[in-house]
Amino acid sequence: KTRIFSGVQPTGNLHLGNYLGAIVNFVALQEANECIYCVVDMHAITVWQEPAELTRQIREVTAAFVAAGIDPVKHVVFNQSQVSAHAELAWIFNCVARIGWMNRMTQFKDKAGKDKENASLGLLAYPSLMAADILAYQATHVPVGEDQKQHLELTRDIAQKFNNDYAESIAAHGFGDAYFPITEPVITGPATRIMSLRDGSKKMSKSDPSDYSRINLADDADAIAQKIRKAKTDAEPLPGEAEGLKGRPEADNLVGIYAALSGLTKDDVLREFGGQQFSAFKPALADLAVDKLGPVGGEMRRLMADPGHIDAILADGAARADAIARPILDGVKDIVGFIRRK
Ligand code: TYM
Repeated sequence: KTRIFSGVQPTGNLHLGNYLGAIVNFVALQEANECIYCVVDMHAITVWQEPAELTRQIREVTAAFVAAGIDPVKHVVFNQSQVSAHAELAWIFNCVARIGWMNRMTQFKDKAGKDKENASLGLLAYPSLMAADILAYQATHVPVGEDQKQHLELTRDIAQKFNNDYAESIAAHGFGDAYFPITEPVITGPATRIMSLRDGSKKMSKSDPSDYSRINLADDADAIAQKIRKAKTDAEPLPGEAEGLKGRPEADNLVGIYAALSGLTKDDVLREFGGQQFSAFKPALADLAVDKLGPVGGEMRRLMADPGHIDAILADGAARADAIARPILDGVKDIVGFIRRK
């Protein structure tokens, strides 16, 4: 049985990369699967967050999920800290995973910077909590952008090591020969890695100091159009096929964004725009982006006007998430040898 889980951090500005790399796929997967989508507030505080702003961002990510088309009634939408199984299982995984595994994570190295000794312990243990998010639901598939691939490999390693270390106890408790599934990453589509609009070698990120580097889901039509107009490009016309985008990261990125927003392939897009200058392509891209993102931003603003309604969605989702995770966590406690309150 497949079960989908994914998470988004409520930090900074939700942007086109989050939307095309993750949220659009969350929406598509709802059709045929049971889906659990989580606003990972506990991950957010691995680096300092201003409390009132964190609260606002949790609601904003929730609003973005719903505005993008995730159905919080048929599926589960909630924030991580409301379901204690995440923290409880993360502790157990902290004792299964090795420090060396954590030290090798490129996201940790990037975020910790030069002064590693001064990073929070939570930032180092981040992937262990992420494994707990996924495995608390025994999720089989996790849709993410390219940048989360290494973390998902670590989730597989943790599941494998738990299954091995506790193999005898797992069998003795009647769970067969493996307790946790070996989760499959779902990294698909033309937009698994959207790059900065200012620098084709950097990924679009919530924390880039330049707002012109990204299109925020909350941007209005004017802001979207202006950012695309100012996006960095080279001086050549567009090539006739995707092959010709090699070595042209900015052109590749803009064509990729067009393809993802329109549901076409890059080759399709270039059949239409090949040979044209950016002065012709950019306005078409801006129109398309405003067309696709405008309604999402508008719906987000409408939802954000009623925080009580958003909080009710989260509370309802948390109760249903808890009902799934609780028995799975109880099994883990039995396997490990803890005594539970019955
Ligand atoms: P986060 O909050 O940084 O990003 C949310 C999702 O957006 C994707 N993404 C991108 N995709 C394409 N191009 C980009 N420039 C881009 N930037 C971000 C991310 O890959 C992600 O899918 N660690 C996770 C959150 C998390 C999680 C989980 C994910 C916590 N627990 C369990 C899956 C399963 C993160 O920081 O995502």
